[in-house]
This record gives sequence, C-alpha cells and structure tokens, in this order.
Amino acid sequence: MTAFVPPVRQDNPYLPFGDHRNAPFYGKDILSVRQFSRQDLDYIFGVAHEMREMVQRVGTFDLLKGKILANLFYEPSTRTSSSFTSAMERLGGSVIPINEVRYSSVSKGESLPDTVRTLECYADVIVLRHPEVGASALAAKYAKKPIINAGDGVGEHPTQALLDLFTILEELGQVDGLTVTMLGDLKYGRTVHSLARLLALFRVKVNYVSPDILRMPPEIIAELKELGLPQDEYLTLDDVLPTTDVLYVTRVQKERFEDPQAYESVKNAFIITTETMRRARERMIVMHPLPRVGEIAMEVDEDPRAAYFRQMEYGLYVRMALLAMVLGKA
Ligand code: NCD
Repeated sequence: MTAFVPPVRQDNPYLPFGDHRNAPFYGKDILSVRQFSRQDLDYIFGVAHEMREMVQRVGTFDLLKGKILANLFYEPSTRTSSSFTSAMERLGGSVIPINEVRYSSVSKGESLPDTVRTLECYADVIVLRHPEVGASALAAKYAKKPIINAGDGVGEHPTQALLDLFTILEELGQVDGLTVTMLGDLKYGRTVHSLARLLALFRVKVNYVSPDILRMPPEIIAELKELGLPQDEYLTLDDVLPTTDVLYVTRVQKERFEDPQAYESVKNAFIITTETMRRARERMIVMHPLPRVGEIAMEVDEDPRAAYFRQMEYGLYVRMALLAMVLGKA
C-alpha cells in the first residue's frame, strides 16, 4: 500500500478547491515587509479596496467559509488581534483565539515550534505575535500552513505597515512625492521599522524625530540608504513640521526599557496638541498605530487631519485581503 504523503504547502498538487497555484500569495508566510515589491503592494491594496467596498455593501460574506484562523498572541494586543478576528469572521471563517498563553500549554514550557505544529492541525493559517525578534520566521520554519507575523518584539510588524501605507494612499491619493515624518520611539517601535522599509519602495522623503536614546537603529538607516531612501534625523519637530505630509506618531515602548529611569526621562518627550496642528500643513494627516499614552492630546481628535481612528478601520480591509490571499481566495 502506498503511504499517505501529506500535501506540501508551496507546490501542493492536491489543491482542495480549484487551482489557486498562480495566486501570488497562496500558501505564503507574511514575515517581513522586505518580501514585498511595489507590484505586490498594488495587488494587496487592490484587494483591500475591494474588501472595503464589500464590507460597506454587505458587511459579511462567505469567501473563507469553513476556514479557520489561529490567533496566537504572546504579547498584549487589542487592535491587531480583534481586527484579524473581525477580518476572518467578515469573510465567513472562524477563529481559535489564544490570547492568554499563560492558560495554554505554553505555560507548561511548550516550545514555539511545537505550539504552531499543534495549532496547524486545527487551523488553516496562524497569526502570531511574540516578544522575540525572528519568532515568526522560526514558527514558519516548522509550520506547513501560512504564518502571519503580527509583531515580533522590536523587529517588524508587516501587516501594520501595509495598513499604514494603505491609509496614506486612501487619504492622500498617492505615496510618491510625500514627506513622511516619524516621531517618538523609533528605536523600539516595530511599526516604524516596517513602515520605513516599505517607504523605501517609493519616492518619498523620510524624517526621523526622536530623543537621542530612541533614534532609528543605525542598521535600518544604513539598509535604507543602500536603497536610496532620503532620510534625516532630528531631535525636535519644529524644523520639519511645516513640510510634513504624514506625521506618524508612536508611543514610547515602556515594556522594552531595561532602565525605568531612562523611560521616565523620555516618556513625555513629544506631545501633539492643537497648537502643533496650527503649524502643520492644511493638507496632511496625523497617524498613530495606537495605543496612545499621551503623545497626542485628545483635543486633536476633532481635527479632520487626525487619521488614526480611520487608520484602524483600513486595517480591517488590509487584513481581510491578506487572509484571502494566503488562503488562495483572492
Ligand atoms: C503597535 C505594536 O503592537 O507594535 N500596536 C499595534 O499593533 N497597533 C504599537 C504599540 O504597541 O505602540
């Protein structure tokens, strides 16, 4: 009798529903923004735009009916985990939520490779957030099903960067020609690490504004310099605010500091207020991956240029697009 050979992911000859082998992201992991070309982005944003229209028209539909997502979160999350849940459910699929790893076998000392190999027996795709850089790549090495990186420590947050770029496109109509200013904790903020890498695919100017101890890691600056991205570093916002089209504000990542006093010394380094907005362009947007802990005053929320709540909604459409794509349905 011939032994049963389990289907392999990338060139699976036993595809279940029709032939999706030519779909660009079918069966692929999403680990780093470095894997995307501009053509990929056009494709992803095209699908995300369609998802937006479908949600606005019908709310929920059955594209991923019968598919199961495992949401495996080893670090706190509100937006990322709930938007992936919402994305999967709006596409007719279902979700295994594992938010409290202390109640799972992880607390018994199970390794990440074993946990993902367990979950893929029950799910078709795994979304993973983990405190260590490279955790998603490690998980992907062992898993046969697609792994989506939802943040690996201070490393990357590729799905956030995609939704950030989609926000810029939908709000300002283009990315080329813009000046993007990143503000706050550029050392530990994984969202800015991913976003800066994605922006290197466009003709943009990037300004980094941060306290000295929270500067963008020099290896990222060097990597993007190689790609020809114009970048400049500043200690204050004043000089660059008047020419900024996108002000991307970040939280000082308290949980990453070894020295609590160092955190205290920089936690209130920058606060965006209505007075700041008076000095900004009339046509610009303020973004923030959220949560905010005081770096944007609530009074700014009323300003039409404050895009951070709309940004969360764009995240739903981008995550719907990514799930449909890796499951071969886009
Ligand atoms: C960000 C994260 O987890 O990196 N949050 C998010 O996913 N929207 C940003 C942060 O925690 O400051």
